[in-house]
Amino acid sequence: MIQTWRLDTVGQTLVLASHDSRMACVTYWGARLPDGEDLTALAEASVLDVTGGMLDANPDLSICPDARHTFPGQPGLVLHDQNGAQVLPDFRLSDAQQTDTALTLTYADPALGVRYTARFVVHAKTGILEAQSHLQCDHPMRLHWLAAPVMPAPQLADEMIDFTGRWIGEFQPNHTPWTAGIRLRDNRTGRTGHEHFPALILPCRGATNTGGEAYALHYGWSGGHRMIAEELSDGRRQVQFGHAGGTELAPATEFTSAKLYAVYSASGLNGCAVAFQRHLRDHVVQWPDPDRPRPVHYNCWEAIYFDHDLDALTAIADRAAALGAERFVLDDGWFGLRDDDTTSLGDWQIDRRKWPDGFTPLIDHIHGLGMRFGLWFEPEMVSMDSDLARAHPDWILGLPDQIEGRQQRVLDMARAEVRDYLFDAIAAILSAYDIDYIKWDHNRVLPTPDAAQARGFYALLDRLRAAFPKVEIESCSSGGGRIDFGVLERTHRVWLSDSNDAVERLRMQHEAALFLPLAVTGSHVGPRKCHTSGRMIDIRFRAWVAAQRHMGFEMDPRELTDEEGRVLTEVTTWWKANRDWMATADILRLDSADASVMAELQLARDGAQFVVFAGKATTGAQTVPRPLRLCGLDPAARYRIALVNRADAKGLSRGHQMIKSAALELSGQFLMSHGLTLPWDFPETMWVVKGDRL
Ligand code: DGJ
Repeated sequence: MIQTWRLDTVGQTLVLASHDSRMACVTYWGARLPDGEDLTALAEASVLDVTGGMLDANPDLSICPDARHTFPGQPGLVLHDQNGAQVLPDFRLSDAQQTDTALTLTYADPALGVRYTARFVVHAKTGILEAQSHLQCDHPMRLHWLAAPVMPAPQLADEMIDFTGRWIGEFQPNHTPWTAGIRLRDNRTGRTGHEHFPALILPCRGATNTGGEAYALHYGWSGGHRMIAEELSDGRRQVQFGHAGGTELAPATEFTSAKLYAVYSASGLNGCAVAFQRHLRDHVVQWPDPDRPRPVHYNCWEAIYFDHDLDALTAIADRAAALGAERFVLDDGWFGLRDDDTTSLGDWQIDRRKWPDGFTPLIDHIHGLGMRFGLWFEPEMVSMDSDLARAHPDWILGLPDQIEGRQQRVLDMARAEVRDYLFDAIAAILSAYDIDYIKWDHNRVLPTPDAAQARGFYALLDRLRAAFPKVEIESCSSGGGRIDFGVLERTHRVWLSDSNDAVERLRMQHEAALFLPLAVTGSHVGPRKCHTSGRMIDIRFRAWVAAQRHMGFEMDPRELTDEEGRVLTEVTTWWKANRDWMATADILRLDSADASVMAELQLARDGAQFVVFAGKATTGAQTVPRPLRLCGLDPAARYRIALVNRADAKGLSRGHQMIKSAALELSGQFLMSHGLTLPWDFPETMWVVKGDRL
């Protein structure tokens, strides 16, 4: 007997089938099937042949492939009892619950006292499919591996794309060819990590940013993930995501995977990107006030580092406000005796040497300028030179002779008394002052990975959010070391990278847009001479790169010349005038024919306007730019196209191009088929083009 289930979004269908009550398999995931498709016939049609050298029937590649029935690939569950003996459940379907948007399948092995549940939820508006697995045992068991429901990977695909990165170099794509065997990512750092953004993109052959079929998956977990992409010798391909291997350290009776977010796209990588961007912004992030425009941000880190001084900070605040900043964040250095990064983490009391009257004078000044105030914390960390470490050495994770990171250690967040201490310390500051923003940092990896640490972190965040529901939180971890949908269920902005170098940022923002919308992606105008690369970067390029995302400033604004201040004010004013529609726009990555150009189009949700950011990172190979093909427009509509920053054209750009002096009116078809021919420019520049539908 075959039982089948189907879930649909506008452009996508997922079909599951269970043969004789065995664990369900995904028998179809792809373009939306016609209503009334015969799902039993579909399941029968997908059965593989058997030939020499094979078992007499092909073991199921199910949503939790089981090691019990000679499955030739990686199992979805590895479970041991408390004596170390392997537990191999013989799961049979015990319950199936379905609505239009959700399916819950429960499997049980009553003899072993183990139940497995897979839950799928589809979001019609965003096209995202969520899948999560849950295991319940009658007796405590040791879990070595529990995959979120396992998805098949397309066979007409030659490569897969996952991500690596490093400090000041986040979101670097890896392109790996599909071959027989496994591609394994197992993150041992205990946090999401710069090195391991938990996602996989599966472009079908020929897919680009703007066309073709693609699949994408993201595992929403901040404790480090494991990903297995495997091709079996019969050609079948499976993708498994779960918590990093062996990070469930204690025996337990319940285990849950994080949510796996998945999507199929018939419009290239952009189809996946738009689904993730919308889903994150409109469903995952819990905005305290969804209608409030994203405020222009100021962060003082690269201006003053640990050197806190009220007079300097008020002068900086004056200048930042005049440039257009609306929120002022006081970074590291305000607590304990924190004059450098060797001391005081854990002592979350205001340093009275630097702040004799507390924060009131600074906050009053900032509020007087019409800005809001935010504060930096790094709650999970402790310096050995701190009152906290001296009082509670037993609260510190790891061995005494561990290697420290940034001269600091990690608190054991699984302990309720640690969370209570941190809650009380942070709540005391939030209650004493008018603070509506926290920058929450995490500057080292764990001594050993442990899923309980991420759960403890989530529990503390949840408790603080419940107590201070109006406070927005930024997830930072030496820049982009903790970016994932799990943390973003509890926070509102990510610090993509400690690199404020606009050249590096241009690339990182381009890649991160595969998952992150403007609304959550912080981007700051850094100092003229970049602190992490030594590059001298023109203010125009720095400002426009920041204006691509949630804009902010991080330099000491007192270094700005009048001309730089004028340019920055102008770009900030443009950003403020456009931020409302840009906050909900789709970021579409353009396929640039010109290797020196990295470009995107931000398309308003109603299609009435768009902006193109065409960033030129290096000099071009040919003498003048190649046309840049746009996407996402209505071919039949006409658009008014204007260069926003046409004044930036250089003297060496000598041609008589109409776009340099006036707006053009062109059809969507022309713009998408031929493309926009932009003026010549220096490297490290950005053309900004506004389009309005006529
Ligand atoms: C690392 C962060 O990424 C920086 O922005 C800054 O907050 C420092 N930590 C402070 O120590």
